[in-house]
Amino acid sequence: MSTAANPPSFDFLEIEESEADMGIRSVLFAAGYDRLMADAEQLLLTGLRDRLLADASGDVLEIGGGTGASLAAYTPNVRSVTVTEPDVSMLRRLKRRAETADRPVTVLQAPAEDLPFEDNTFDTVVSSLVLCGVTDQQRALREIRRVLRSDGRLLFMEHVRSAEPGLARTQDRLNWLNRLVVGCECNRPTVTSIRDAGFTVGELGHHTMPKAPPMVRPVVVGTATCPAVTPAGDRQ
Ligand SMILES: C[S@@+](CC[C@H](N)C(=O)[O-])C[C@H]1O[C@@H](n2cnc3c(N)ncnc32)[C@H](O)[C@@H]1O
Repeated sequence: MSTAANPPSFDFLEIEESEADMGIRSVLFAAGYDRLMADAEQLLLTGLRDRLLADASGDVLEIGGGTGASLAAYTPNVRSVTVTEPDVSMLRRLKRRAETADRPVTVLQAPAEDLPFEDNTFDTVVSSLVLCGVTDQQRALREIRRVLRSDGRLLFMEHVRSAEPGLARTQDRLNWLNRLVVGCECNRPTVTSIRDAGFTVGELGHHTMPKAPPMVRPVVVGTATCPAVTPAGDRQ
C-alpha cells in the first residue's frame, strides 16, 4: 500500500503519435486484437485477470496495456492507475477505453524497458501478456523493480515456455512463426526470468489457454515481490 501522501502525477502526458511509427503488422494486430482474443478472454483470461487484479492496490502501473482489457478489473483498493503502451495503434484504442473507464486513467507511450517514472513510484505493477513480447525481458524487469516501492508487488499473467519437454521443443521450433504472426516469443521461461531479476515469486497458477495454438497455450498467473531497500539505498 502506498506510503506517499499523494498519488503520482506526471507532467509529460502528451502522447507522441506518428503515422510513420505504425507498421502494417502493428495496425492490423491492434485492429483485430480484441476479436482475436475474444474466445480465450471469455473462456479463461478475463476470470484469471479479475482474480489477479482484485489484489492490485495503491498506485498501479500497468505495462503494455494494449487495448485496455484490464481496466475494468481494478477495484476501489486502487488509488491511481497509470498505463503505458509503446505501440501507437494500441495506444489509440487504449486511450479510447481509458476515457470511458469509471476512474481516471493516465495513459503514456513508453516501452517497459524505459519507464518514464522516478524510482519507487508504484505499489503494484501489472503485466498481462506483455513479457512475452518485450524486446529485452531482463531490462524490462529491472525497470519494473526500479519503479516499484520496496513493499510493492508485480502481478503477472503471461504465456510461457512449457514445462513439458515435447511442447517446449515445438515452441522452440515454431518461435519464428509465432514472432512473425503474433509479434512475441512463445518459448520464454518468464517465471525463471522474474526470479533471475531478483523477485521472489509467491503464488503461481498454471493454466491452458483455450482456443489457441498449442505453442501459446501454457499460461502462468502469479505475484512477485521485490526485497526491501537496504540502508545504503540498494535493493537486497
Ligand atoms: C498481447 S498484447 C497484451 C495487451 C494487454 N496487456 C492485454 O492483456 O490484453 C501485448 C502488448 O504488449 C505491448 N508491447 C510490445 N512491446 C512492448 C514493450 N517493449 N514494452 C511494453 N509493452 C510492449 C504490445 O504493443 C501489446 O499492446
